[in-house]
Amino acid sequence: MELDAVQRAAQEQFARQSGRYGKGHILENVADVADALSQISLPAIADVLDVATGGGHTGLHLASLGHRVTLADIAAPMLEKAAALGASRGLTVRTRQHPAEEFPYGDASFDLVTCRVAPHHFSSPESFVRETARVLRPGGHFLLIDGSVEDGQPEAEEWLHQVEKLRDPSHHRFVTPGTWTKFCEAAGLKVKRATLAPMKQPDLNWYFDCAATSPENRRLVLDLVAHAPESARHLFRLAEEDGKIIWWWQRLTLIAAR
Ligand SMILES: C[S@@+](CC[C@H](N)C(=O)[O-])C[C@H]1O[C@@H](n2cnc3c(N)ncnc32)[C@H](O)[C@@H]1O
Repeated sequence: MELDAVQRAAQEQFARQSGRYGKGHILENVADVADALSQISLPAIADVLDVATGGGHTGLHLASLGHRVTLADIAAPMLEKAAALGASRGLTVRTRQHPAEEFPYGDASFDLVTCRVAPHHFSSPESFVRETARVLRPGGHFLLIDGSVEDGQPEAEEWLHQVEKLRDPSHHRFVTPGTWTKFCEAAGLKVKRATLAPMKQPDLNWYFDCAATSPENRRLVLDLVAHAPESARHLFRLAEEDGKIIWWWQRLTLIAAR
């Protein structure tokens, strides 16, 4: 499967940074996943695909509930570390390396497809949703959790895009809830929930370190923060706390059914 430039950038970035996404990363807290799962009915032992699994936190949570889980990612070192983390918790999972835009699975193979804090790196979120719908069994569910920007906020969305692109050049684009809903409907999925909730981001410096942001790009981001338009200041609650720059992501939880 030939990768495009966006996919290659993500693969390289996350292979390099894979050591940072396991134990101790903020994504280890899966309260958001547990909350969303309480609204999804699954077979006692479901076939689950966790796309762009990163440190594996979402997929491993599902494995800990007794489901049969496949962890997929574009970056091989991520998969190795996620599987090792699972083994250290006594969990058995299958791993597959492939991009989110094209799956190597047959039609109707899974009861649940999950994807958390990753689609903003995908070169084609639309293809990802199409593939998700294809591999879901009738009655199966899609759970998406990712940063987003509410519809109708082009200035704030563009500001956040610039910040994220400088911080981590493998960032591609945030997708609004309205656009995700259109992608789902076009793929034959029925959206049951699409809600944004504020999520406090840790100190900007922690965020820089996580993505190994270059000193030049750190300076440019700080400049963007200092000159943020009112729309972005307000929407992302930009502030300083104890000398640290903090802001709030708009985190989208979308649940759709086939
Ligand atoms: C922040 S981590 C994901 C966190 C994880 N889902 C969790 O819940 O802990 C982002 C992951 O997306 C993967 N990724 C980025 N672009 C991708 C693509 N086009 N296809 C598959 N995986 C991709 C990266 O390799 C990385 O492991």
